[in-house]
Amino acid sequence: MERDIKGLISQMTLEEKASLCSGKDAWNTKPIERLGIPSIRMSDGPHGLRKEEHLFGESKPATCFPTAVTLAASWDRELVERVGKAIGEECQAEGVQILLGPGVNIKRSPLCGRNFEYYSEDPFLASELAKHFIKGVQSEGVGTSLKHYAANNQETRRLTVDAKIDERTLREIYLASFERAVKEAQPWTVMCSYNKVNGTYASENEYLLRKILKEEWGFEGFVVSDWGAVNDRVKGLKAGLDLQMPYDGGLGDKKIIEAVKRGELSEEILDEAVERILRIIFKAIENKKEGASYDKEAHHKLAREVAKECFVLLKNEDHILPLKKEGVIGIIGAFAKKPQIQGGGSAHVNPTKTDDALEEIKKIVGGRGKILYADGYEIDKDEPKEELIEEAKRIAKESDVVIIFAGLPERYESEGFDRPHMKMPESQNELIKEVAKTNKNTVVVLSNGGPIEMPWVEEVKGILETYRGGQGWGGAVADILFGVVSPSGKLPESFPKKLSDNPSYLFFPGERDKVEYREGIFVGYRYYDKKEMEVLFPFGYGLSYTNFEYSELKIEKKKITEEEILKVKVKVKNTGKMKGKEVVQLYVKDIKSEVIRPEKELKGFKKIELEAGEEKEVEFELDKRAFAYYNEEIGEFYVESGEFEIMIGKSSRDIVLKETVYVESTKKIKKRYHINSTIGDIMEDTEAWSKLQKFLADLEKAFGIESYISYTKKPEKYLKNDCLRRILFYYVRQGADMNKMEELMTKFIEDLNS
Ligand code: NOJ
Repeated sequence: MERDIKGLISQMTLEEKASLCSGKDAWNTKPIERLGIPSIRMSDGPHGLRKEEHLFGESKPATCFPTAVTLAASWDRELVERVGKAIGEECQAEGVQILLGPGVNIKRSPLCGRNFEYYSEDPFLASELAKHFIKGVQSEGVGTSLKHYAANNQETRRLTVDAKIDERTLREIYLASFERAVKEAQPWTVMCSYNKVNGTYASENEYLLRKILKEEWGFEGFVVSDWGAVNDRVKGLKAGLDLQMPYDGGLGDKKIIEAVKRGELSEEILDEAVERILRIIFKAIENKKEGASYDKEAHHKLAREVAKECFVLLKNEDHILPLKKEGVIGIIGAFAKKPQIQGGGSAHVNPTKTDDALEEIKKIVGGRGKILYADGYEIDKDEPKEELIEEAKRIAKESDVVIIFAGLPERYESEGFDRPHMKMPESQNELIKEVAKTNKNTVVVLSNGGPIEMPWVEEVKGILETYRGGQGWGGAVADILFGVVSPSGKLPESFPKKLSDNPSYLFFPGERDKVEYREGIFVGYRYYDKKEMEVLFPFGYGLSYTNFEYSELKIEKKKITEEEILKVKVKVKNTGKMKGKEVVQLYVKDIKSEVIRPEKELKGFKKIELEAGEEKEVEFELDKRAFAYYNEEIGEFYVESGEFEIMIGKSSRDIVLKETVYVESTKKIKKRYHINSTIGDIMEDTEAWSKLQKFLADLEKAFGIESYISYTKKPEKYLKNDCLRRILFYYVRQGADMNKMEELMTKFIEDLNS
């Protein structure tokens, strides 16, 4: 139904308009009964519904799906969309109109407390998956809130810290993770973050909210503040912040009313915010499914199915996995019985039920094998406990194979604070070392939301990274360990060997209220690759129980303009004995560039399933953005003409096929010359270079002074770094009239710029 929103606004009083721009309470917008404007409900949070009746209260049971980083490890767009759809169904059943997620902030440092809630260190992967999550939720007629816009990459001083980021880095990394999701999925709302970005609070940042989000990217929904992120309500409204959450006692509304009355705020700006809010309110109400319900058991099963696609096999020496069901299997580690499936804070879901790994392993093994169990450590304590380690060793001695459940207790990872280090609790590191000494057939199953150090990596045969697996984690772990399915997850981030290897290390979390992103665009693998640094496990990495071979990489054209789409095809064959899934990754490298660029950047990925022996062709389409960098001079993404390498990889460090394409830019950036322009810059521009040579020849004629170039006999590499000013002084020193020379040089520069 087409509603006359503008007509409705014309009937509203100033007070009514202002009242719509802030919440009624912790979660709802204000209704205006007189005009038939209903209220809508918002609830957290990305990997499941957290519906609480009041702020910080207990939430209603809902399906806890794997958290964002876990989902990202699936690299599976359709899977992420299915999760979104299921959460959308739960929202409908619980009367929630907007789900507060997904979160797409870049995983800049391994220490960020909310790393479990964010997808990746790579903006392309993060934005693509967020896009599909949004599509899934919104397909159910429920809105999303893409958050936290922008540069909220740490929890330390998150309400006050100022993230200082250069424009190119902001555009290529920190905004890019939002951009595709906004442009291609149109989330109903975008949530601005708490922090400042380059000196201005995100909640009152006109550049971010109005200029980029609404004008450049064409965002159609409304901007909502993170809960309590408003600093100055009137400034915020002017900058493009539409809805303030939660209820603030009426202060914000009052300020808006006063500002309009005093003429400090135009009512048109208020009307625009009201219009954006109303459009979403009515959309939500029209899509409301009265009496909706969902199948809890089916969603639980889905949570397990999904988790299986996300786990990453990091190590599998001697093919220790998959395990046989016979023999003695030692299960060690309290996480096996008390799964650590999510993190803390507003994203914490109250699961409808949770499968533990020990029970699920027992179910799979049935009567065939013997299962022994020991706690090994205490979840709430970090110090090793000798008697627990001794008991674990006893079990390890009796077992044919040992599975240790370890990682980070949930209390390590939460909204509100960052981790102080990248280590696992000492109790677990000690346990793993001791058990691995006792039994060579040791496998570690990890639960954690971000990179951790693994001082025992060489001592165990197998490592399975399960991240934060959601309520179906236990069953999914059992399925992977015993080969019901082959693992197919790939790391959506790099695992450095130690914290100090991470590019943000020197500057994270900043000095008091200032954090400078001095590593620039070199985040994650972009840094490790450029530095040729060894990592523990690289971005995009993950093993399988089967093998894949790649062949016949084909690019449709050898030369394109940046306005064309380049089609890329490659064949992948399952050469192993088991059905499996593979994530085919496409990276692009600018071979030679005027600006500093990464060694490679992810620009395409596809997950495919292959039966043993089966082969499929995978196709990618690359557009301008696959080749572009953000050019600050012209304020847009720009492709520099030249050759680019198209790389197909099993991971960022395992490139199996390469091709080269020439991309011609249709946009010519006119160089502006001045007295301090270098000769090198002029030499690169054929027209300018011939003009300079002519200019020097003319000077020789006019003054009888030998050309600067032939006189100084400077080799090109030296000459390149000279500038026009130097030439001017040469002629003056050789006797040319100063004023005349200046006049000629000015004319020459004008001619270059004409
Ligand atoms: C603050 C968190 O940063 C945000 O992610 C969440 O949606 C709101 N609180 C509401 O709980």
